[in-house]
Amino acid sequence: MNDSIWNDVKIKKEKCLDKDISCDILIIGGGMAGMHTAFYLKDAKYKTVLIDKDTIGSGITSRTTAKITYLQGSIYSKIEKMYDFEFALKYLRSQMDACAKIEKIIDDYNIDCDYEKSSSYLFEVEDNLNKEIDFLTKANVSFIKNKKLPIRFPCKNSISTEGAVFHPIKYLNALKNIVLDSGIKIYENTRAVNIIRDDNYYVVRTLKGIIKARKVIICTNYPFFIIPGLMPFKLYLERSYVICGKGENKKFNAINVDKDVYSIRYYKDNIIFAGLSESLNNRENDKMEKLLQKYKKYFGYEITKKYQNHDVMTHDYLPIVGKINNNSNLLIVTGFNKWGMTNGVISGKVISDIILEGDNEYINLFDPNRKMTGFKFLNRLVQNFKISYNYIYTKLIVPKDKKYYQDTINGVKCNVYIDKDDKKYIVNRICPHMGCTVKLNEKEKTWDCQCHGSRFTIDGELINGPSVYDIKIE
Ligand code: FES
Repeated sequence: MNDSIWNDVKIKKEKCLDKDISCDILIIGGGMAGMHTAFYLKDAKYKTVLIDKDTIGSGITSRTTAKITYLQGSIYSKIEKMYDFEFALKYLRSQMDACAKIEKIIDDYNIDCDYEKSSSYLFEVEDNLNKEIDFLTKANVSFIKNKKLPIRFPCKNSISTEGAVFHPIKYLNALKNIVLDSGIKIYENTRAVNIIRDDNYYVVRTLKGIIKARKVIICTNYPFFIIPGLMPFKLYLERSYVICGKGENKKFNAINVDKDVYSIRYYKDNIIFAGLSESLNNRENDKMEKLLQKYKKYFGYEITKKYQNHDVMTHDYLPIVGKINNNSNLLIVTGFNKWGMTNGVISGKVISDIILEGDNEYINLFDPNRKMTGFKFLNRLVQNFKISYNYIYTKLIVPKDKKYYQDTINGVKCNVYIDKDDKKYIVNRICPHMGCTVKLNEKEKTWDCQCHGSRFTIDGELINGPSVYDIKIE
């Protein structure tokens, strides 16, 4: 039930790195961004290696709704307010470009990934659609104005344009084979735990081998290091909820512009209903329940999956893609603000153009060191305050249930959880990333860190970073 709808594909795994190697370019992370970086570098005369801590696409990509659209909630009016019209327009162009690039790759390589055109709707339950309409009109984007959605769901007004949907893991698997055929090496189940600079090289330590690389590209959703770049202070996490059910197939997808966001798409005869995202700092824990109520009221099909997803957000709604600082050979891709399909493709192109010293009009737009506006500064201040508050809160609020409590065992500060079959789970409660206290996620039966989103299985094995270590007690 907690498994994603996309994990239905059998994929041949690549072996894990078990020796020391060297290469020109090392890509860490095999989601949309990492795989597209590899794809766009495949014809370059570099020795390129890609590693993933699990398998290709098994991270955030596997939990996405996989919509390929440039209608992305209220993002354009927000970017316009943060910067100006030209900046927002450039972001719009990047997303349109990404939609076209995915379609071209699928066409060129004849990829069987259930890609199909699907009208993308942007709608309002209460208000705010006008701001996006104004922007799109100024940007000369043509769209159809509708009153309603093609299904019964609260909607005051909507607009629609052409969009598409696909199966992201089938797509990435095909991309993996294309990249492997080009000679790029891929190692799966290879977790990078440390990176240091050594003269003109970076030395990346994995659990079983060391990789020496001239350039390193971090595509791990949330970067696993703190310095350089101080990324934990430039990013925050949002948790969203996903419900899948077996019902019918409709040829549209939709998202609204209101505070409570709902996202709708269909895959074959499955409905994927997601949303109600909230900052990880919120402690309200009934959002899945609230989404469930909506689902029952408007869809009502048999539920096949229920899960949560964590998305990395930036303080100005734009991804962070590029050199971590101007002279560095360490590059970073993160902060897709929930739009990982399009941003994964476009960031792969941007990174490859930086490496190949080609032109790319989006390099400045996504620059990790782009200018700080007043709004961005304020947003950053608020989010960092919430994270610090969370750090303290998780230390002060101690679970004291008979089934879930804290203990100290052999000097190690532990969380203890006893499940309904009386099986006891004991884990180190201090998050290896920056020391917050991990909490039990009762719904998903995971240990979650509310500071920067690391997640661990109930046995303490790492699911998602930025932590690179487990919290198992040996
Ligand atoms: Fe950063 Fe836990 S302290 S993820």
